[in-house]
Amino acid sequence: MNRIFSGVQPTGNLHLGNYLGAIKNWVSLQKDFECIFCIVDLHAITIKQDPKELESNTLEVTAAYLASGIDSKKTIIFNQSSVSSHSELTWLLSCFTPLGWLNRMTQFKEKAGKKKDNAVLGLYSYPVLMASDILAYKATHVPVGEDQKQHLELSRDIAGAFNKAYNVEFFPLPEPQIFGQATRVMSLRNGLNKMSKSDESDYSRINITDTKDLINLKIQKAKTDPHPLPSKKDELTNRPEAANLLGIYSALNNKKLEDVIAEMAGKDFSSFKKILGDLVISKIEPISKKMNDYLKNKDYLKKILKEGSEKANKISNENLLEIKKIIGLLII
Ligand code: TYM
Repeated sequence: MNRIFSGVQPTGNLHLGNYLGAIKNWVSLQKDFECIFCIVDLHAITIKQDPKELESNTLEVTAAYLASGIDSKKTIIFNQSSVSSHSELTWLLSCFTPLGWLNRMTQFKEKAGKKKDNAVLGLYSYPVLMASDILAYKATHVPVGEDQKQHLELSRDIAGAFNKAYNVEFFPLPEPQIFGQATRVMSLRNGLNKMSKSDESDYSRINITDTKDLINLKIQKAKTDPHPLPSKKDELTNRPEAANLLGIYSALNNKKLEDVIAEMAGKDFSSFKKILGDLVISKIEPISKKMNDYLKNKDYLKKILKEGSEKANKISNENLLEIKKIIGLLII
């Protein structure tokens, strides 16, 4: 049986990278598969969060899921902290995770920076919590953007280490699903950096909540190069900004990159940016409008999360019980 699990951190505005790398793909997957989509508030607190903002961001991400087309009748939507098996399983799985594996994680190195000794334990064990999110449901597939690939490989390794330790085939090895034309959306200010919530410049990203005018302005100001758009894919190799903008266009339009290149060949950036701006607005504006409508009814959003967490608790508690039995923890 296939089961899909994925999540987003409620740490500020969702951007086009989150949408194209993850949420847009989830919407199509939920038609054919059992899906569980989480708002990972426990991951968010590995970095200092204002309590009020964390709470409101959690509801905002819930609203964004619904506004993007995640169907709460078919799919489980919940916030991570409302299902305690994630934390419990993190401890159990941390006993199967060699430090050497965690030491390899590039995200920890980036986020901890030079002052590693001041970094908190939660930031270091973040990938074990992520493995627990997935394995608590014995999920088989995990749709994410490219930046999560290393964490998913670790989740597979941890699942394998547990199975091997007890000579069981309890956990499936979860498969990353990294697909679409925009698995790594880059910053609008520098085509070599990932579009990210933590970039100091708001002009580096398109937020799902940006107004029409702001989207146009950000795209107009996006970094480019002096050449017209190419006619072949391999001519994009050393043109990261052109590759990024064409990638965004093709992902939003559900078109192959090759077809978009053929369509735009020879155009200058100013005319392409006009077409791209119109497309981004036509796709993002309806989502932000719906999101605002959902946010007017916070009780409804809480009700969705509560129902989701009840279902998630049921599945994960059953699995946790099995895991404890395998380990030999006495069930009383
Ligand atoms: P987070 O909150 O950083 O990002 C959420 C999703 O958005 C994708 N993404 C991008 N995709 C393309 N281009 C970008 N510039 C870009 N930026 C972000 C991410 O790859 C991700 O799919 N650790 C995870 C959340 C998580 C999780 C999980 C995911 C916790 N537990 C279990 C899957 C399964 C994270 O921080 O995502």
